[in-house]
This record gives sequence, structure tokens and C-alpha cells, in this order.
Amino acid sequence: MELKTVGVVGAGLMGNGIAQTIAQAGYQTVMSEINEQLLNKGLGMIKANLANAVAKGKMQQVDMDAVLNRIKGTTNVKDFQSCDLIVEAAVENMDLKKKIFAELDQICPPHTIIGTNSSSLSIIDIAVATKRPDKILGLHFFNPVPVMKLLEIVKTIVTSEDTLNTSKEFGARLGKTVITAKDAPAYIVNRLLIPYLMEAIRLYESGYASREDIDAGMRLGCNHPMGPLELLDFVGLDTAMYATAAMYAELKDPKMNPPILLKKMVTAGQLGRKTGKGFYDYSK
Ligand code: CAA
Repeated sequence: MELKTVGVVGAGLMGNGIAQTIAQAGYQTVMSEINEQLLNKGLGMIKANLANAVAKGKMQQVDMDAVLNRIKGTTNVKDFQSCDLIVEAAVENMDLKKKIFAELDQICPPHTIIGTNSSSLSIIDIAVATKRPDKILGLHFFNPVPVMKLLEIVKTIVTSEDTLNTSKEFGARLGKTVITAKDAPAYIVNRLLIPYLMEAIRLYESGYASREDIDAGMRLGCNHPMGPLELLDFVGLDTAMYATAAMYAELKDPKMNPPILLKKMVTAGQLGRKTGKGFYDYSK
């Protein structure tokens, strides 16, 4: 199936990066938010990113304008009617995702593939909220989406081969390397990454090492671009907590139970870079 128009539900950190990447690959793009304020914030982030590329001489102004012209921002879910494929990038909450998928299922034509950018939830649970479970799968992108080279595709036991193949071609056209995972808790990347991040929080909360030393240890000792606490601030502590809680719910592994410090920081609104404070202070 040839994809012409692609939708993105959510214009937050992940949603706007996904929409930018899709529009840069030449697709007509529809990006939605729940209100004008959040939509404009997401569109503003895309503009700022593209303007940065133009300022660095990596993109022509005319190409930036063309990318922006391909993105239609909306707060009306009916605008997804024209989409051949949709990536849902809303908050990591099963009930919300089921509601969004059921609604999209009503609105979209039968051929539309709907993927979720969930980082850890069971995809089959989302798929059965629709009457097209064979056209539902995980399309897991990584932050910052325009830069990170990976697309992790998650196939459920009922995702069709056609859906999988069309999604793989879509990922390749976005310039991503595609890996395929089964619908097991947290798939491949987060199954490995989240336990590591949680262990870093426990090391820090137990007082065994300073946050700076934990981060320097992994940056300099293992050549990671960011240490684990920096990465948690970058990803968002709420997102990390939802991911580990989802893994704990399925695996019952005590190491996946969110550390107390993480829960308290999320309750306090210390979500990392996006709120100006997490393990580090970004307010200055
Ligand atoms: N959007 C677009 N481009 C961006 C960007 C953004 N948000 N942030 C950085 N970039 C670009 C910069 O413009 C720059 O481009 P050029 O090389 O063309 O100039 C390039 O990325 C490098 O950026 P910087 O020089 O500013 O900074 P850096 O070299 O320190 O790299 C980084 C920044 C790419 C974020 C790097 O620190 C990194 O790779 N960090 C780890 C990121 C990571 O692990 N992400 C996965 C998180 S897990 C996840 O997302 C999944 C989940 O389910 C939780």
C-alpha cells in the first residue's frame, strides 16, 4: 500500500519530533493536540528545530517552508479521516490509548494502519479496542526523533504481514533502521534500558554515589552520550515511571517496581528537562 498522508496523535516531545521526521520524508502530515495552546507549542518546536538546521546551513529555507507546508496542525480528530497511517504518541496510559484507538477506528477508512509509540504497554490490549487488530502495531521512536536512527516495530500475534511490511517500508523512508520485536513487555530497547535506568536511581537514592559520578561513570566508562540520570531527565521521569510500572505489572520483577525517589519526584512535578528540574536543575 502506498502511504500519502500520515497522522500523528500528540504534539508533545515525541509527537512533534515524529511529525517533523514524517514531513521531512515528504508525507502530507496531520498532527493533533487536545487544545490550541499545546498544538502551537508543538508546531513551534518543529519550526525552531528546522530554523536551527537552516541556520547551520544544513537545510535551505525553501525546504524548511515546504516541510512546514506539509504539516497540518489540528485539534479535530476528524482530520485523521484522510490518513493512510497514524502514529499515536499520547501519554503512556492504557485507558487513554484504548479510547484514542477506538475513536480513530471509527473515523478512519478500513485500510488505515494505526501504530502506537508506546514505550512499554501491551500492544494487543490496545489493538482489541478496535475492529482492525490486524492493522495495529507498535511504532516506537526514540528521542530526539529527527536524530535517533532507530524505529522499533512491535508485532502482536494478530498483526498482519501486510501491516508489518508497509510499516517497515515507512520506517525505511523515514531514514530509520527498523528492528522488529514481539509484543513482550517493553519490547527490546526498553526491556534492556529501563532496568539500567532504575538501577541508577537506586544507586543514587541509596547514597552510594553522587549523580555526577554515576553519569560520568557511564559517559566516560562506556562511551554513552549521556549518563543514566541525565538520560532520565531527557526522556522525562513520568515516561520512565510509566514504563517501569508497566513492566512490573506484567513481569512482577521487584527490580521493575518504581524506586521510591522516582515516584516522589514525579509527584512533585520534577519530571526532568521539560519541567526545568529533575535529577539536575535546568531553570537557569
Ligand atoms: N531535534 C532535532 N535535532 C536535535 C535535537 C532535537 N530535539 N537535539 C539535538 N539535535 C541535533 C543537533 O541539532 C545536532 O545536529 P548537528 O550534528 O547536525 O549539528 C545533533 O543533534 C547533536 O546535538 P548537540 O550537538 O546539541 O548535542 P549532543 O552532541 O550532546 O547530542 C543528543 C545530543 C543527540 C541528544 C545526545 O546526547 C544523545 O544521543 N543522547 C542520548 C539520547 C537517547 O538515548 N535517546 C533515547 C532515549 S530512550 C527513548 O526515547 C525511548 C523510550 O521509550 C523512553
